[in-house]
Amino acid sequence: MSAYNANIVWHPAAITKQARRQLCGHKSTVLWFTGLSGSGKSTIANAVEERLYKEGLHTYLLDGDNIRYGINRDLGFSERERKENIRRIGEIAKLFVDAGMIVLTAFISPYCADRELARSLVEEDEFIEIYVKCSLDECEKRDPKGLYKKARANQISEFTGISAPYEEPLSPEIVVETDKQFMNESVEQIVCYLIEKGIIR
Ligand code: PPS
Repeated sequence: MSAYNANIVWHPAAITKQARRQLCGHKSTVLWFTGLSGSGKSTIANAVEERLYKEGLHTYLLDGDNIRYGINRDLGFSERERKENIRRIGEIAKLFVDAGMIVLTAFISPYCADRELARSLVEEDEFIEIYVKCSLDECEKRDPKGLYKKARANQISEFTGISAPYEEPLSPEIVVETDKQFMNESVEQIVCYLIEKGIIR
């Protein structure tokens, strides 16, 4: 692996991130949604993307289930595989930031260290961690895909919150509480933060 890397040379691109951003007309950034299965990550990320898209911003949503159909179809749910899942998503998110876009990622991303790795791949002001907070009880009550039921019946192993850990973010930029707020309140909270930080107008 290291011998192979020694023969790889980085080519600087003729078109810079700054130039691509100028064309898009706004800052590029990662909106990293994290939370338990059923917490509402995908729903809120989709609603935020729709809102930004309607404002004419260049966005793209990377979603856990969908990515696992394609580029990460070789990965399961062991700690090692989740780490690799998040590493790849972090690298893909970095490419979108480089392309001048706002990329939204909706993955459980249960380990602090993996989220910190994704954060470290981009500039400090290009990563916004959004904790989609919801009690395990409520997520289990919602159980939109019937997965908690299966996990309780031991039909799914290493299920987050039941038989695999979820490490709460220590200092996320935004916390939305989906068992206490309406969805549109969470979306507004995120949009207001982006305006406040000058990411969108
Ligand atoms: S991770 O932990 O970030 O690598 O997971 P992610 O890529 O976001 O994939 C989560 C979705 O996979 C389904 N699923 C499971 N989740 C957790 N644990 C286990 N064992 C598992 N098996 C399948 C589930 O539909 C998750 O989607 P969400 O949207 O989070 O409910």
